[in-house]
Amino acid sequence: FDYFVISKTLQCWYEQNKRELPWRETKDPYAIWISEVILQQTRVNQGYDYYLRFIRRFPNVKALAKASEDDVLKQWQGLGYYSRAHNLHAAAKQIEEIFHGEFPKKYSDILSLKGIGEYTAAAIMSIAYREPFAVIDGNVLRVISRLFMIEEPVNSVRGKKKIAAIAHAILDPQHPEIHNQAIMDFGATLCKPKQPKCNDCPLQVHCLAFAKNVVSEYPVKNKS
Ligand code: ADE
Ligand code: SF4
Repeated sequence: FDYFVISKTLQCWYEQNKRELPWRETKDPYAIWISEVILQQTRVNQGYDYYLRFIRRFPNVKALAKASEDDVLKQWQGLGYYSRAHNLHAAAKQIEEIFHGEFPKKYSDILSLKGIGEYTAAAIMSIAYREPFAVIDGNVLRVISRLFMIEEPVNSVRGKKKIAAIAHAILDPQHPEIHNQAIMDFGATLCKPKQPKCNDCPLQVHCLAFAKNVVSEYPVKNKS
C-alpha cells in the first residue's frame, strides 16, 4: 500500500472541504482539549455554541480550576454526559496543582488527567503540538476497516490493535494535525456509516472494500 498517497489525498480533500470552526483557529492546548471533549458525544452544530460560551466563561486552565462545580455544570447544561464537565473541572485542578498551571506537553502526562483517554490525548498532541500521534475514533475505525478490509471485528482487541497499527502507518508525521482532522471529517461526511458516497470518494482507487463491492459488510462487528 502507498500509505503516503492515502494521507496526501485525505489532506487535499480536507483542504477543499473543511468547515471553518472556532477550534480550528487555535493551537491553544486548553481550547483544543475543551473542543475535543465537547465533540466526543455532541454534534458539531450543537457543540459550536457551547464551545464559544465555555471558552468565554473559562478562557484558560486557571479560570476553570477556580470556578465552582455548580458554575461549570451550569455552562454544560443541555449537553448531557455531565461526568465530562465534572472531569474537565477536576483535570483543570490537576493541571494547576501537579503541572503548576501549565498544560502538560507529554503524552503520558496528558493521559494522566481526569477524563482524558487515548483519543483525547492523541488529539491534543497532534492538533495543539503537531506531534505524530494518530487519533482513533469511530470514524477512523470505519474508514480504515473499509479501505483495508479488516476482517477482525472493530470492537475486538485484535481488530482494534490491527486498525491502530494502520492508523499509525498512514499518519503523515509532517502534518499530523491536518491528517487527523481530515480522516475524522472524511469519515463523518463521506465514508459515512450508511450510504457512504463512494462515487465521490477520492480514495476509491485505494479502497479494497469498494474494489470487491463489499463496502456494506464493513466495518465487521462482534455482536456484544
Ligand atoms: N471530531 C472530534 N474532534 C474532531 C476534529 N478535531 N475534527 C474533526 N472531527 C472531529
Ligand atoms: Fe469509504 Fe467508499 Fe471511499 Fe471506500 S470508496 S473509502 S468505502 S467512501
